[in-house]
Amino acid sequence: MKILVVGSGGQLGRELKKLHTSDDANSWMFAARDQIDLQKADDLRRLNEWKPDVVVNCAAYTQVDKAEEEVYACWEINALGVGRLAKKCNEIGSWLIHVSSDYVYHHNPGRPIKEEDPLFPRGIYAASKAGGETLVREFNPKHIVIRTSWLYGNEGPNFVKTMIKLGETKSELRVVADQWGSPTYTYDLAKAIRKIIRTLADSPNAEFAGTYHYANEGVINWHGFAREIMQEMGYDTHVLPITSAEYAAAAPRPGWSALSLSKIKRVFDIFPPHWRISLKSYLQELKKTI
Ligand SMILES: NC(=O)c1ccc[n+]([C@@H]2O[C@H](COP(=O)([O-])OP(=O)(O)OC[C@H]3O[C@@H](n4cnc5c(N)ncnc54)[C@H](OP(=O)(O)O)[C@@H]3O)[C@@H](O)[C@H]2O)c1
Repeated sequence: MKILVVGSGGQLGRELKKLHTSDDANSWMFAARDQIDLQKADDLRRLNEWKPDVVVNCAAYTQVDKAEEEVYACWEINALGVGRLAKKCNEIGSWLIHVSSDYVYHHNPGRPIKEEDPLFPRGIYAASKAGGETLVREFNPKHIVIRTSWLYGNEGPNFVKTMIKLGETKSELRVVADQWGSPTYTYDLAKAIRKIIRTLADSPNAEFAGTYHYANEGVINWHGFAREIMQEMGYDTHVLPITSAEYAAAAPRPGWSALSLSKIKRVFDIFPPHWRISLKSYLQELKKTI
């Protein structure tokens, strides 16, 4: 199988790049924004030459708060650009594995959210991610949409790295305690994507097409997550709980992002590790570099 990763310069894209060295069965290509820019329709012509069997889209406009101002850019990349990519994949007969977000939900059914639950995207970023998903389904029947949450990885900035930096210097921090979800290590998600690709290679028809959740197992709020990071790092920084209203971010965040993982377990035999276990191994890796 020939696999093309679009958006290979981001957290998840770079994780997939690292992981592909241990995959001899497939040939991988990586395109960062300078090679495939989702805002430039002409760039997609490259797919005619490369003819990948599977495209993994990790590219996205991810500045959630800035999106409230940069509405057009966010919509152009996350919805229209993704739609164009899906159309091109359909044209060349390739699968599209597209990464989406827990932000499409914004409601609490009182249990882990299932893939078929209704979407209530709030804010420009959330709406653009929901729009992108819709266009993927519309334009390419050979699609896998993966909704994930609270990503952190070895590359690029993320919540864990921010907490470590603050923990080094601050004696007290205030962190939101009314948003619940599952922190997800990009290494685990990258491995899940690799497993999905292997399954698709064994089954060329579209029986696996659909929408799936992938997150690390277990649910916590940001305050609890921050406390765990401080504890693991051996910092005695006090982490105080605040509300989303007190934090007052520009874009709304979902209060409940607990994603049901039953479908991905059942269909792809993928069993995500618990977030605590993944955080520990992430920090062990990170400590080697600081
Ligand atoms: N981070 C999270 O907490 C989180 C949670 C749930 C879902 N997700 C989703 O997971 C996916 C991966 O997220 P991530 O954390 O790896 O994001 P990331 O680190 O922000 O990476 C996104 C990548 O997309 C690239 N990009 C932006 N605009 C582009 C365009 N017009 N054309 C091509 N590439 C473009 C960026 O390049 P530049 O740096 O050059 O702009 C960057 O390399 C995204 O779909 C995101 O929506 C993320």
